[in-house]
Amino acid sequence: MSKNKNIHPVFDKILTRDDKERLLRQRSKVLWFTGLSGAGKTTLAAELEKRLNYNGYLTQILDGDNIRSGINNNLGFTEEDRMENIRRISEVSKLLIHSGVITLNSFISPTREIRHRAMEIIGKENFIEIYVSTPIEVCEERDTKGLYKKAREGKIKNFTGIDSPFEPPVSPDVEVDTSILTIEESLDRIIKIVLPKITFWV
Ligand code: ADX
Repeated sequence: MSKNKNIHPVFDKILTRDDKERLLRQRSKVLWFTGLSGAGKTTLAAELEKRLNYNGYLTQILDGDNIRSGINNNLGFTEEDRMENIRRISEVSKLLIHSGVITLNSFISPTREIRHRAMEIIGKENFIEIYVSTPIEVCEERDTKGLYKKAREGKIKNFTGIDSPFEPPVSPDVEVDTSILTIEESLDRIIKIVLPKITFWV
């Protein structure tokens, strides 16, 4: 008999993830985009979301700049803060996939340890790793936010790829380099891997 006499579990009464997936007619996964700032993660996630939405899938995007201006606005870019950033995001992602929602995450998530932690929290079977491998020279040339210039001038510290490391994934589920592939070509590659995993087969 349980020692916790005053605890009344209701697991048999609450709806399961399978119930939610059945309603939405989709299997929920976390699509985790990793890569340097300016590699194209946000653009690809946004375009992928449009395609999925058009095909009847319910999705949610979680993105570095948005999350860091809200739930994680107390965190910076030390290794410790980046780990905490990813830990919270992973817990939020876990809630979302338990609601049946396909979650598209775009975060630099620069180290193998950080991504491994994310995968542990989310669950290996729920985690699809997408490496946006655009080389740093191209990201710096694009410098969409002007941050590489600032980092080179020493006005931003711990900038990934400049004075903070980026460790490429060892065996990502899919890799796309947006300096070689068009957005459409990158999306085609990603969709090919993702679609069988989110399709609802009764
Ligand atoms: S992560 O390393 O913790 O995964 P995250 O993806 O949330 O990073 O945030 C990265 C975004 O923050 C970048 O796209 C960039 O706009 C901004 N940023 C500001 N300072 C830094 C920095 N020192 N290193 C990397 N990105 C930075």
